[in-house]
Amino acid sequence: MNILVLGSGGREHSIVWKLNQSKTVRSIHAIPGNPGIAEIATVFEMNLDDHEKIIKYAIENEIDLVIVGPEQPLVDGIADLFTENGIKVFGPGKMGAKLEGSKIFSKEFMVKHDIKTSGYEIYSNKEDAIEGIEKFKLPLVIKVDGLAAGKGVLIPKTIKEAKENLSLIFDENKFGESGNKILVEEFINGFEASILCLVDEEHIIPLESARDYKKAYDGDLGPNTGGMGTISPNDKLTDEMMSIIDKEVLQKTLQGLKNDGIKYRGVLFIGLIIDDKNEPYILEYNVRFGDPETQSIIPRMKNDLLDVFMKTVDNQLDELNLEWDERTAVTVVLASDGYPGNYSKDISINLENVDKDVFVFHAGTKIENGLLYSNGGRVLGVTALAENKYEAREMIYRNIEKIRFDKKMYRNDIGL
Ligand code: GLY
Repeated sequence: MNILVLGSGGREHSIVWKLNQSKTVRSIHAIPGNPGIAEIATVFEMNLDDHEKIIKYAIENEIDLVIVGPEQPLVDGIADLFTENGIKVFGPGKMGAKLEGSKIFSKEFMVKHDIKTSGYEIYSNKEDAIEGIEKFKLPLVIKVDGLAAGKGVLIPKTIKEAKENLSLIFDENKFGESGNKILVEEFINGFEASILCLVDEEHIIPLESARDYKKAYDGDLGPNTGGMGTISPNDKLTDEMMSIIDKEVLQKTLQGLKNDGIKYRGVLFIGLIIDDKNEPYILEYNVRFGDPETQSIIPRMKNDLLDVFMKTVDNQLDELNLEWDERTAVTVVLASDGYPGNYSKDISINLENVDKDVFVFHAGTKIENGLLYSNGGRVLGVTALAENKYEAREMIYRNIEKIRFDKKMYRNDIGL
């Protein structure tokens, strides 16, 4: 089969890497891909919002299956376009993608289908929001309704800070149209878990759990990022908790999709927080694979990834028997100094000395005159599999020393 993967991050690199091991894959294409992906697939530079051109490329290259990495094209309806053109696609249509595209839509979906989530109010102007935040305990959570590249969740600790955040959204228009409406939510104390599920129209199957480290600095300090590292499995999640999550979150979500007539075929990534009373609350739905969760989960998957994708798009998830490597995977993101704020750019990178049993997934990299440079905030993801998290960490941090990349910034406590 000919496969097209859309996206350019570490998530897409890990997907392409795994697809490349499938016996039934004839060719892999990626738009726009990255230098790591280019080593194992045909990459084509194209803007992901140019849907017509992408469809044309898929038709010309006889693509049988498309995997959509990032959320924006899904929210913009690219999956519907592929379907209309007779091309199979892993990823939901516009209706399903709204679960990520609108935080208000997804919150209302949770409430309607009796899925536990934090209390909230919706505001569409600063004055009402300022009055409203007085009703919430501190810290509180402010979320812009639309997509914001992972930066649309603010957790002010004081009313002063909350008012500053509201000014940023409503006066300075920092999030554009995404900030036209906001949610203010209760903050829930607990530990976070990422559950990525394969979903077709009749079934929901969780992949192995992961834990994302979202804050920029060690000890969960500093600003939120897209994710600075992950561990899989999430060793804080017990089997008992997983069965509660299955009953209270996954099955209710599937039933909700069915009741609302949302035909979903793809991955649904559920961000959860487990509170002090051991109750799972949904923080958010994402309609795509997590980054860097995927870089820790995919290397543990024993199944043929193309078969996994095909069973999902063909509505045959009941025939899928997932098998996992029992070892622990840890991924540490190497970001460019300054990330998630203004970061250094065009820094030379050398990966020559990295051990062969450690995976280096590219994210923000580029090639110029045959040499590798940084080209984004999150630049590389280093993943290792080992008998336990301590060994995996040891392998990673030893190899990070061997990666020549000036001003690299990373957390030292991933996996702990
Ligand atoms: N790691 C969080 C995300 O992919 O949204």
